[in-house]
Amino acid sequence: MNLFDVYPRFDVNLTSGKGCKVFAGEQEYLDMYGGHGVISIGHSHPHYVQTLQEQIEQLGFYSNSVHMSVQEKLALKLGEMSGYEEYSLFLCNSGAEANENALKLSSMSTGKKTVVAFRNSFHGRTAASLNVTDNEKLSAPLNRDNFPVRFVSMNCTAELDEALSPGDVCAVIIEPVQGVGGLDLAGNDFLQYLEKACRKHNVFLIADEIQCGFGRSGKFFAHQYAGIQADIVTVAKGMGNGFPVAGVLISPCIKASFGQLGTTFGGNPMACAAGLSVLETIDQEKLIVNAEAMGEYARSQLKKIPEVKQVKGKGLMLGALFDFPVRELRSRLVKEYFIFTGASSNPNLLRVLPPLCVTAQEIDLFINALKKLLI
Ligand SMILES: Cc1ncc(COP(=O)(O)O)c(C=O)c1O
Repeated sequence: MNLFDVYPRFDVNLTSGKGCKVFAGEQEYLDMYGGHGVISIGHSHPHYVQTLQEQIEQLGFYSNSVHMSVQEKLALKLGEMSGYEEYSLFLCNSGAEANENALKLSSMSTGKKTVVAFRNSFHGRTAASLNVTDNEKLSAPLNRDNFPVRFVSMNCTAELDEALSPGDVCAVIIEPVQGVGGLDLAGNDFLQYLEKACRKHNVFLIADEIQCGFGRSGKFFAHQYAGIQADIVTVAKGMGNGFPVAGVLISPCIKASFGQLGTTFGGNPMACAAGLSVLETIDQEKLIVNAEAMGEYARSQLKKIPEVKQVKGKGLMLGALFDFPVRELRSRLVKEYFIFTGASSNPNLLRVLPPLCVTAQEIDLFINALKKLLI
């Protein structure tokens, strides 16, 4: 059987990883992309490996029909580190699934069904998450005619007011730092306005922190730069450092009832052990402080390159904008300098999302390679 060929791939067969490095046999690569921004604490971190090994020796799986203390430990630590102690956690398996559940909860709780989302958004590839993603090319005929969505421009209060005014909106979903769409930011003033507007119209504010969360922006959650609180926060990617785990942080104003949400694999002990060891490592190694400092360093170095027209993003979620498509540049970084970077829906934007443990030396390696290729 062949693999269903949906991804353009580099001709590299990875066999192992350590910190910000990945290896194809003997050949070392510098990972400035973390496999779509997933690797947070570094590849094969010893604490992560040990925790997962111990967990699988004890209990690999049981369903949510019993208590598993590792779930409660994860929820407690996540509440403490994120500042969302009062919220409750629904565990699932992927970013799209987290957004599906967030949107469903908003609609169930308000009795309304229109959603406001933002231009250039990406929230996932399943029914509801795809419907609030601003990219028609990703959808199939059966995805169209789903629930109504109003797309508004990022940071435009007039468009937001107009979208909310009919009174039929159950949720606004926003990536505080847009990922796949091209690293545009929601400004602090706009986020503060959005929080108030959602309260006024009895609309749930969903912060999609799937890519920008878990410390990547230089704060635990990117929306916390604006000092706001979302009603629902969705998390995935960096949460498991590669182990599939995702979550929905849910405001105490939304009451749970049996059967409302459910999952077979969500919250399984392996995923929770992975999530817990990630949080412990972020905490012990002060990786959020490192993300902020290294993000600033990478930004300052990228800005000095004349061919880089703009540096977008926040923390270790950066985009270097060129006035030409970066496809060949990315490919040459891999082939000639053994460095992975990412693409976005803007062909001229090079995405940089290294593990949060990246060092200044590793950033220098990347910057020097980029400079040599641009001569
Ligand atoms: C902001 C954001 N939301 C949701 C998703 C979907 O996550 P997943 O691929 O785990 O379903 C992604 C994936 O790139 C994302 O960047």
